[in-house]
Amino acid sequence: MSLSTNPLAVELLRRMRQLEIRAGVIGLGYVGLPLTLLFSEQKFRVTGFDVDQQKVDTLTRGGSYIYRILPEEIKAAQSSGFSATANYAQLTEVDAVVICVPTPLNEHHEPDLSYIENTAHAIAPNLRARQLIVLESTTYPGTTEEVMVPILEKENKFGLKAARVGASGENTFHVAFSPEREDPGNTQVARRDIPKVIGGLEPLATEYASALYNSIFNRVVPVSSPAVAEMTKLLENIYRCVNIALVNELKLLCLRMGIDIFEVIHAASTKPFGFQPFYPGPGLGGHCIPIDPFYLSWKAKEFDFHTRFIELAGEVNLSMPYHVVSSVARALNQRKQALNGAKVLVLGLAYKKDIDDLRESPALTIIELLQQEGATVSYNDPFFPKVGRGRKYDLQMTSTSLDHLEDFDCVLIVTDHSSYDYKDIVRRAHLVVDSRNATQGLSASNLVRC
Ligand SMILES: NC(=O)c1ccc[n+]([C@@H]2O[C@H](COP(=O)([O-])OP(=O)(O)OC[C@H]3O[C@@H](n4cnc5c(N)ncnc54)[C@H](O)[C@@H]3O)[C@@H](O)[C@H]2O)c1
Repeated sequence: MSLSTNPLAVELLRRMRQLEIRAGVIGLGYVGLPLTLLFSEQKFRVTGFDVDQQKVDTLTRGGSYIYRILPEEIKAAQSSGFSATANYAQLTEVDAVVICVPTPLNEHHEPDLSYIENTAHAIAPNLRARQLIVLESTTYPGTTEEVMVPILEKENKFGLKAARVGASGENTFHVAFSPEREDPGNTQVARRDIPKVIGGLEPLATEYASALYNSIFNRVVPVSSPAVAEMTKLLENIYRCVNIALVNELKLLCLRMGIDIFEVIHAASTKPFGFQPFYPGPGLGGHCIPIDPFYLSWKAKEFDFHTRFIELAGEVNLSMPYHVVSSVARALNQRKQALNGAKVLVLGLAYKKDIDDLRESPALTIIELLQQEGATVSYNDPFFPKVGRGRKYDLQMTSTSLDHLEDFDCVLIVTDHSSYDYKDIVRRAHLVVDSRNATQGLSASNLVRC
């Protein structure tokens, strides 16, 4: 039945456009919580689901656990009908469900889809006909159709099937994939100005999802299938990963040649076409760029395909923390000091400037490597007063004040937070090693860029 003649479809579309539906967001992390607020700002009634009871309790109290989201925003959302819960039974009350759960790598560097699978297992018993289920978590092409849909179809109570081309009757639910394109810390582009790519399992699902997102984003970009939408996100992140690896490698060459790579990049950026700047650094961080490309290289093996660009970029980017540590050792050596026994202060733990996200941060690897070499390591980061245990680290450290920089043999800049006074730091420290070009424009005998 075509869109225009199916009364149920017409009615659901009308309700979506009139903001009459209730939306549900599953996974209230860095992606899900801002999305929930965006729905709420547009006067959607929205329910947030998370398995982390602490997060649910914080939100229920009108609090926030993400630095850039203020408690006032949570309270405003609550007054527009937002509530948070760990109880999946409330899913029966929502018309559209958006899934924003983590997609990390396991210890063998392979996709860990357990969060998506667990979410599908939890949704299935509460699924009802005509509901729209949208996956936003970054993953390899095929996940929506091959992993999520079979669980939903097998475990729902009413024998519902996902609507497909030519099979979109009463006893169906609708499925789409729409990748998240969040750029934490970016204050230049408003979230609603980031176009939303949408691939439904069939045209009606794309249409429903487009109607849903059209009310909170300025532009939607429909594509022909979930797999195309899944691959689009991976292309975007692989593009970044490969280009960052390229400039990281060229930085190493430029250091040997005595050329300032940042000056080169700035000059190249004046070309009005055909060049986009990427910047070298101490290594990749965050939940996306270090992880997502490996989702594709893993899937590619099923097709006897070896993704060489991804592997090479991974190799270069993974070597950067080692380069930083050997640069610290060399700089100390030139001052007749050893890294073994040196006191090193790491400035910045977050994976990029001005954000409160530690995931996959190169600072964690760098601290570990410095400790392995016998250095006594402290850190300072205004976003992390203390750091305990994470998935891959167990630091148990507290942020050191910057009052006594003279106590350290070396200050190592790993994250270039805007709040640091770099001129003052270079003036007061014995030795500064800068892996981010945070000290651009400064020149001093105790300053080494790496
Ligand atoms: N953070 C980013 O900048 C960013 C950007 C683009 C895409 N993404 C993608 O978005 C997805 C989510 O990333 P994130 O950064 O928001 O992760 P996050 O870890 O900040 O948040 C995920 C949330 O999901 C919750 N959760 C886990 N399992 C659950 C379940 N079964 N039911 C309900 N809640 C559950 C967790 O408790 C957590 O609060 C990932 O696939 C990521 O690759 C992230």
